[in-house]
Amino acid sequence: MFDLVYFTTLVLAFAAPTIAFPAHASLAGLSREEMDKALGTLKFTPPPPPPGPLDFSGTKLVNDAEHPFMDARPGDIRGPCPGLNTLASHGYISRSGITSCSEIITAVMEGFNMENNLAIFTCYSAFLVNGNLVTDKLSIGQKTAKTGPDPPKPATVAGLNTHNVFEGDTSMTRADAYFGGDNHSFNETLFQGFVDFSKRYGGGKYNLTVAGEYRYKRIQDSIATNPTFNFIAPRIFSAYSESVNPINLWVDGRQDDGQLDTEVARSFFQKMRFPDDFHRAARPMNGENELDVLAAHPIEPGTNVNGVNTYTPDPTSGTLPDKCTLYENHVNRTVRSLYPNPTGNLLVALKANMHYFYTSVQPKGCKEIFPYGR
Ligand code: HEM
Repeated sequence: MFDLVYFTTLVLAFAAPTIAFPAHASLAGLSREEMDKALGTLKFTPPPPPPGPLDFSGTKLVNDAEHPFMDARPGDIRGPCPGLNTLASHGYISRSGITSCSEIITAVMEGFNMENNLAIFTCYSAFLVNGNLVTDKLSIGQKTAKTGPDPPKPATVAGLNTHNVFEGDTSMTRADAYFGGDNHSFNETLFQGFVDFSKRYGGGKYNLTVAGEYRYKRIQDSIATNPTFNFIAPRIFSAYSESVNPINLWVDGRQDDGQLDTEVARSFFQKMRFPDDFHRAARPMNGENELDVLAAHPIEPGTNVNGVNTYTPDPTSGTLPDKCTLYENHVNRTVRSLYPNPTGNLLVALKANMHYFYTSVQPKGCKEIFPYGR
């Protein structure tokens, strides 16, 4: 389930007594002994509640003088999410790429006009599995040898690159982890598929019709080529959400017509940069048009159970329209499997973050669950 490089690196980090546990590395999956060692070196930061909705939620210039684009410096982290990469390049979140959910939620609302509950749902679902719950820090990707000092250091943490707990297969412009492990870098060949589909189905623009066709194509690609293809919760949520984010959040708020120019798309996907004069969306965007993408080619959550072309539905997985089961799956299965017996500050932090996560589905009438007690 985890990235091998990540665990190898953690093991090496523990082997050297002088190296403290990285404050932005996830504690998920550590043995009791490793956990105790790590917790001894980390300072507990109680997680603050998530920020509420914006006071002013209309469109406005966001590529402004206070948020100039700057290239990532050596050592800065960027990852599989072009939205968060862009916010880091413009200083809406820390340019280092090490951040927190409070900072991300404010930034995705301020910079893109993502709706408050969607921002909370997305961020806490990722933070619970990829973040350091004790220090309240999250890395938006992985420090790679390429960006390290000379001589290059090995990767230290996987952050949002960690495979199959939030990051997953069948991305639009990133390869499946199965193919060589680079699941986070922009891939020009895949992007050309995105452009090609925008021409075929959208008259040159990426829109909801294209999203339905391209999402289906990427799923079919993974079924046919990736023997480990996995498309159950939480990936089922993130994949459809990511198909509509470009339509909802990358079309300039003054244009507001759901038709994304593919050069604008490239600016975000590859260059991690707001176009000049970019104005955020005209209103808070809640991502509910993801259901239109699913409706174009309905597919049940499932996996390739025995090699390529063995896609089999998994009836125990939450489905896209059923956010309550997605929430329950995540809390009761994914997070619990990563943290079977938390104690001390880790337990306090887990309970608090799970509650914050719950607040995003509370308006849908979901029942709060307490896998670690109240
Ligand atoms: C709210 C916090 C957010 C978190 C924690 C997050 C996390 C992620 C992660 C882990 C991925 C990789 C999934 C994968 O394809 O395997 C991803 C992809 C993506 N994210 Fe985000 N994201 C967030 C907000 C945003 C925002 C605000 C936007 C747009 C403005 C955005 C746009 C995208 C897109 C388009 C992809 C798909 C990339 C591709 O398929 O090539 N995300 N995100």
